[in-house]
Amino acid sequence: MTSWACFRFVVGAIEIDSVGPTARLPRASSGSSGGSSWRHSKMTLPIVKSEMAQRIKPASISRLMRIALEHPGVVSLAAGFVDQASLPVAMVGRAVDELLGDPLDGPRALQYGTTIGDAGFRERLADQMEREGGLPGGGVARTAGRTIVTTGSAQLIYLLCEAILDPGDIVLVESPTYFVFLGPVESRGARAIGVPVDEGGLNLDALEETLGTLERGGELGRVKLIYTIPEHSNPTGLCLAGERRPRLLEIARRWSRRQRILILEDAAYRGLSFGGQEPPTIFSQDDEGDWVIHARTFSKTLAPGIKLGYGVLPHELVEPIAGLKANHDFGTANFNQLVVDRILASGDYDRHVAGLRSIYKRKRDRFLSALDEFVGPLDPEIRWTIPEGGLFVWMTLPPGVDAGFEGPLFGRCVQEGVIYVPGEFAFADEPGPRPRNHLRLTYGLPGENNLVEGARRLGQALCGCLDPVA
Ligand SMILES: Cc1ncc(COP(=O)(O)O)c(C=O)c1O
Repeated sequence: MTSWACFRFVVGAIEIDSVGPTARLPRASSGSSGGSSWRHSKMTLPIVKSEMAQRIKPASISRLMRIALEHPGVVSLAAGFVDQASLPVAMVGRAVDELLGDPLDGPRALQYGTTIGDAGFRERLADQMEREGGLPGGGVARTAGRTIVTTGSAQLIYLLCEAILDPGDIVLVESPTYFVFLGPVESRGARAIGVPVDEGGLNLDALEETLGTLERGGELGRVKLIYTIPEHSNPTGLCLAGERRPRLLEIARRWSRRQRILILEDAAYRGLSFGGQEPPTIFSQDDEGDWVIHARTFSKTLAPGIKLGYGVLPHELVEPIAGLKANHDFGTANFNQLVVDRILASGDYDRHVAGLRSIYKRKRDRFLSALDEFVGPLDPEIRWTIPEGGLFVWMTLPPGVDAGFEGPLFGRCVQEGVIYVPGEFAFADEPGPRPRNHLRLTYGLPGENNLVEGARRLGQALCGCLDPVA
């Protein structure tokens, strides 16, 4: 080994002792196992993390997952997983067999694809969106041209934050919102500001008030994005009322002065309605395609293990987001795209989603009636939402009851064998303080008996945390 090669070998292992930095080279002639000739370091040199990495907070979800693993009997009303029994194993198997049996598409599926996503698949997605609720001006071809396929909608959302947010920029979010979204906003050094929701979703008067306050404070120019989950929201289960959708678009336009205030419409739960047809998407009403980013995923309506999402973007964002995606992975798995393409083409997807709607409706009914039985009688102040679709129920406890990770209820719940997501995570830091008397509950993963048992255990745990009813 040349001395240069030797130097390169040890550079990563420079040690520092208490006196000062000292590079300790292995004895070239030692011939022994190498390790014996090294002094143990008392302190290693720090890794200087990027500003972005320094802004990252430990993910609360990891703690919930650890608790679930450490307590195998626990009923998780926390995990945002889908119903296990309904995962379409046979249907996906059929599509995979057909795909791999196809002499052209089989090898194509196993090859790299394009960064933006397979052209035929993107057209299929636009077709599907047209059938589900309409497209804006320009129809299928124009929509497909500004659609980008991503590794889950989480990637699309992350890339969007990378593409438009700088430190100090502002994103207006629903209060409460999908807590995972706050991570990419914070890691960009941007600020998330919460705007209240009510029974009809995002409260648009409150939104205008927030925009007015920001304008008076000279900060309107920092507002880049309004984030909304218009269908069966995670975490509340509530929908943005149909009549609010065009008004939201109008507000974004009207308050955009020096720069566009975009709307991120996260339609992760669209399609999972238990009642009638969901109102038209906001993006379908954005005729010029200038204001709305429409984010979709197959995770909830097909299988999260396929991890396939997509977004329809304003034209100016297609190139930057494709460029950033190229840095990440230069394209989502071609195989997954072509499998889902077949499932869409055969009509299996629509049949499957129709089946999911009735499965989740049954589970919701069972869960809500268990909450009525075990939680309702405990305190008249306890309230929860009645979702008309999706997977989530949002529970509000009397104001003094602390449902946070560190509060008494969470610990009692773990003892009783049930967990939930503390609602505090779903609030942005601003305007603060984050309320701690909410719980996000889901009936997605547990079977029906476990939903009843989970509600019973939650009631049991709550008993010890509430003031006795007078
Ligand atoms: C509101 C919302 N948006 C986006 C996602 C991301 O889903 P995926 O990355 O699996 O497509 C989720 C997942 O739970 C979600 O609840």
